[in-house]
Amino acid sequence: MKIALFSTKSYDREYFDRYGQDYPHEITYFDNRLTSQSVPLAEGFRAVCAFVNDSLDAEVIEKLSALGVELLVLRCAGYNHVDLDAAKKAKMAIVRVPAYSPHAVAEHAVALILTLNRKTHKAYNRVREGNFSLDRLDGFDLYQKTIGVIGTGKIGQVFCKIMQGFGCKVLAYDPFPNKELIAQGIVYSSMEELLKTSDIVSLHCPLTPENYHLIQADTLDKMKEGVMIINSSRGALIDTKAIIKALKSRKVGYLGIDVYEQEADFFFQDHSETIITDDTLMRLMSFPNVLITSHQGFFTDEALAQIAITSLENLTAFEKGEFIEENTVLRA
Ligand code: NAI
Repeated sequence: MKIALFSTKSYDREYFDRYGQDYPHEITYFDNRLTSQSVPLAEGFRAVCAFVNDSLDAEVIEKLSALGVELLVLRCAGYNHVDLDAAKKAKMAIVRVPAYSPHAVAEHAVALILTLNRKTHKAYNRVREGNFSLDRLDGFDLYQKTIGVIGTGKIGQVFCKIMQGFGCKVLAYDPFPNKELIAQGIVYSSMEELLKTSDIVSLHCPLTPENYHLIQADTLDKMKEGVMIINSSRGALIDTKAIIKALKSRKVGYLGIDVYEQEADFFFQDHSETIITDDTLMRLMSFPNVLITSHQGFFTDEALAQIAITSLENLTAFEKGEFIEENTVLRA
């Protein structure tokens, strides 16, 4: 099947080319983000492959449908950026990669914690400049600290187990507690209790209308002084303006984010030679106790391979008039 792959980076091409050899699909790569301006590029394709920051609002979906696109192949797990009502109306099928490597994202969340705590990013730069002083590089033992995990799905589960390995007390909140985790000593609590007692709060739930700004002024108020907050899920789970206030008042002691509310304008692109006009992002970047990575939680060899293979399998199934149940968001 002919497929147009949007927001192509060198690594997408590398992995889709490598695994695509085993499939009869013809992939055309476009560097462009999918937006209402770039949508005409999809003419002549039955399927379009999109990533997390492609625009999939009603306007884009209607235009894709008018061009004859029947299938949207998301090469990501989340589909909060897709207007599902518009897709239903347009009779567009949607498939995704529900799990490519929960380990990749969970391990990245741990990397954010360790870096923020032990300041290895600062130590690296200091030592390279011949500065071997330890001043202000002090951290804290993770051992016996309380880690609050919000969302214990595929990624949250892996994260809980890693943190248990550090000797932490792991408290979890999820409307659907996981029995296997309970058997392993993870304690489920109310959200209130988790916020009140956790030294580190890590977000592993999806962005849904109910979870929008889950962390805002009220929830921040309930947390411990100096709490560390980690978000490797979706930017809009956190009210950025409220967290900046909490960082300024020192209520939040550390913030590690792999995602940001307005990331679509910046992440995955080199802006080093341009003027960044997002003052909120620039304010966040100015704090010494804030660590930002640009949505790289998924970025491991294993995950990229799985993303390519699952997307190609999704295409093959669709061509045969079939759907792989667990990968399907919408049937046409
Ligand atoms: P999952 O669907 O397996 O698990 C999500 C869990 O969150 C479920 O158990 C659900 O019951 C729970 N949940 C929903 N609302 C909640 C709430 N208000 N409070 C507590 N728990 C709640 O999803 P998975 O695979 O673990 O992924 C989690 C999120 O990670 C994704 O939705 C996505 O946003 C993000 N992600 C980030 C990546 C990155 O590169 N940084 C890559 C992949 C996913």
